[in-house]
Amino acid sequence: MLRLGIFTSGGDSPGMNAALRAVVRSAANEEIECFGISRGFDGLIRNEISPISTFGVANIIQRGGTILMSARSQAFKTKEGRLKAYENLKTLGINALVGIGGNGTYAGLQKVVEETNIKVIGLPGTIDNDIFGTSRTIGYDTAINTAVQAIDKIRDTAASHERVFFVEVMGRDSGFIGLNTAIAIGAESVLIPEDYEDEKKLFSYFERKDKRRKLFSIIIVTEGNKEGNAIDLAQKVGLKYPNLDIRVSILGHMQRGGSPTAIDRVLASRLGYQAIKCLSNDEHGIALGVLQNEISKTSLIEASTRLNILDSELWELSNILSL
Ligand code: F6P
Repeated sequence: MLRLGIFTSGGDSPGMNAALRAVVRSAANEEIECFGISRGFDGLIRNEISPISTFGVANIIQRGGTILMSARSQAFKTKEGRLKAYENLKTLGINALVGIGGNGTYAGLQKVVEETNIKVIGLPGTIDNDIFGTSRTIGYDTAINTAVQAIDKIRDTAASHERVFFVEVMGRDSGFIGLNTAIAIGAESVLIPEDYEDEKKLFSYFERKDKRRKLFSIIIVTEGNKEGNAIDLAQKVGLKYPNLDIRVSILGHMQRGGSPTAIDRVLASRLGYQAIKCLSNDEHGIALGVLQNEISKTSLIEASTRLNILDSELWELSNILSL
């Protein structure tokens, strides 16, 4: 008999609630008892675990954030913290776990796999889209659409005043949000954490700007890039080109909130359903995702230690289209 605990962990992402709903409802369909764990791994340690029913996940598919709440747990990184968590699960007879989150969550889940007999499934919930073994993570589509909508508004004022805007978007270790947003809004240049010559490209853009008769410019700066944040880069460019009218806008956490897009809701629902299907077939120790729109299964050890790689074709594309 399976008794399942489910939690969300790390940075929240739009669609986590839709995934939770799908897990709980699919579990009910298999007559698997479900427990909601609040505040991720911290809730496991503090025993914030209570039964969750299909009624408890009603009216959440459209909601951003996570009704289970989330945390970046330091305590679970300690042996002592983990032992407490395992003891709480044992007391409740919970023998399966579904964790929804990013790389940090997967690393924690892998520890559970190594140290217990609990059956573990990871679902990719992060706006960064940097999870290995899936081409999309839950929340990524919503986040880039949020960024695009915000930057389209910035473009109006940039055009009216003939300004240069440095817009900073999220993405701690990878440029999925930055590069895809840049392509979608037609940015003049983009800086990303991956190893491309993006600062060189930025300055070469300003060399050519007047010849190209560009009246205004939008530069996308991904937060994890190596050349500096949006304020640093705006200052560097301002020093070299003092006649430019430069402004900075940092989108920040607005990209993490809001109602999930249909794409994220469907992805979350598919993955939540598949998590229960896998557990019912005694498949575990894996992370689920989608590759070429088919469900993909990757061992948690691999998913927690590797990163999703940005397609270099997108970089070339953004260069050509911003000419
Ligand atoms: O991992 C998602 C993310 O939004 C990153 O893009 C960002 O660097 C980080 O989380 C911010 O984390 P926090 O909300 O803990 O400051």
